Amino acid sequence: MDEQAGQTTSLWMATEDVSEASVLTTSLTADVCVIGGGIAGLSTAYCLAREGRSVVVVDDGPIGGGMTQRTTAHLSNVIDDGYVEIERLHGEEGAALAAASHTAAIDRIERIITDERISCDFERLDGYLFAQPGDEGSLSLERELLAAQRAGLSNVERHARAPISGLTSGPCVRFERQAQFHPLEYLSGLMRAIERRGGRIYTGTHVTKVEGGSPGRVETEPGSVITARAIVVATNTPITDLVALHTKQAPYTTYVIGARVPRGSVAKALYWDMEDPYHYVRLYSDASGDRPYDVLIAGGEDHKTGQADDGDVRYARLEAWAQQRFPMIEEIVYRWSGQVMEPVDGLAFIGRDVGDSPNVYIATGDSGMGMTHGTIAGMLLTDLIVGRESPWTRLYDPSRKTLQAMDTYAQENLNMAAQYAEWVTAGEVGSPDEIARDSGAVIRRGLKKVAVYRGPEGDLHERSAVCTHLGCIVAWNQTEKTWDCPCHGSRFDKTGKVMNGPANSDLSPITD
Ligand code: FES
Repeated sequence: MDEQAGQTTSLWMATEDVSEASVLTTSLTADVCVIGGGIAGLSTAYCLAREGRSVVVVDDGPIGGGMTQRTTAHLSNVIDDGYVEIERLHGEEGAALAAASHTAAIDRIERIITDERISCDFERLDGYLFAQPGDEGSLSLERELLAAQRAGLSNVERHARAPISGLTSGPCVRFERQAQFHPLEYLSGLMRAIERRGGRIYTGTHVTKVEGGSPGRVETEPGSVITARAIVVATNTPITDLVALHTKQAPYTTYVIGARVPRGSVAKALYWDMEDPYHYVRLYSDASGDRPYDVLIAGGEDHKTGQADDGDVRYARLEAWAQQRFPMIEEIVYRWSGQVMEPVDGLAFIGRDVGDSPNVYIATGDSGMGMTHGTIAGMLLTDLIVGRESPWTRLYDPSRKTLQAMDTYAQENLNMAAQYAEWVTAGEVGSPDEIARDSGAVIRRGLKKVAVYRGPEGDLHERSAVCTHLGCIVAWNQTEKTWDCPCHGSRFDKTGKVMNGPANSDLSPITD
């Protein structure tokens, strides 16, 4: 779906060039058409190709050009929302299935890397969950520990402090056998493995229409058609469903820094605290040894997409947080942001689309665990498509309604509804003259709202500010130089070209 997901450069983008594929120019037929070339799409295509299915993958940007290149690539079975919360929402059995599925995803990634000889810095390591500052004596860590054990995670232990010099920590819970990798090197390897098995991959190919049925049809620009027995929509957030699914998840923007630290000065592990929103940390070492330092990657400072435009402030807070806990930081060398789709009940939506086409499948709601949820999608969707039972079908069913999540559901949908008030407010500035170079703002022109971007040379680009999904007013994001929709997370580049669903068309030209 994504052409480019913003203007910042992640560590992964700076250190791996994923090879280009060609644009689809002819119509073709396959067993399965996968829309989206991120971790969920390629994992699904790979698993299906291994089972002898013919697959075609299409993406309108480069492979991994959406949120996969903006992850921090923690591979973990420590569920983002915490096991206490997952157990409350899904019961003990659901929490155990969730734990097993993420554990299986890490194992599957490790096996694929071995089988396909993918060089992507995969490492097994421990994970540490810390209490909030001042909350060290509380029971929250203990509760997480017990809930994780009830969910079947073994080798989970409480420690008085992390065995890491320099990290000022109180008590923590250690989780064994977590992992990390380089996400774009992994995708490059998956891409080659799919092609070796006869899979076909096309980039720069925008999907304009998806039609389930026997067979299903995927129409692309400028006019090719893919006919397939099954269609998988793995576009971060689905472009096929207009409303239902988008009321059950909410888009959040998260910020990441990469800090240079002396090689070996911080023990390699995954780290999380228990603040809300929480912080997450890992290390990256260049396997070639060319860099004489490690990069400490820290993320957090999340906010609802399109509802804040203060990236500089958030980066500064993140840097201060990291420097206080890791005083060996020498210099910040990367800053980037990404988007997380937060399902109201903490687990991804993977399975049959909520519409009435039985042969259209979706994967969405990464919940900050996109690498493992994307891999679970590969395994689960393959089972569903080849007609095999899966123990995870019900847990991840996109049509599920989780009664215990109704409060969150109501809050998120009130928040979305409140965004329509932007239709009647004044513009952010009175005229384009007030917009600085390489910046944007929404202005009011009569009854219309206009998204105006001023380029570096002073050139003006105007588009309707009305999101082409369900009509909310987009907001300028100065960090990524994008127009972001505060309702369901659609994103458009500075000239209005669609980059992220659920919108599937560009902001409209101004016609008056
Ligand atoms: Fe739904 Fe914009 S993403 S209205």
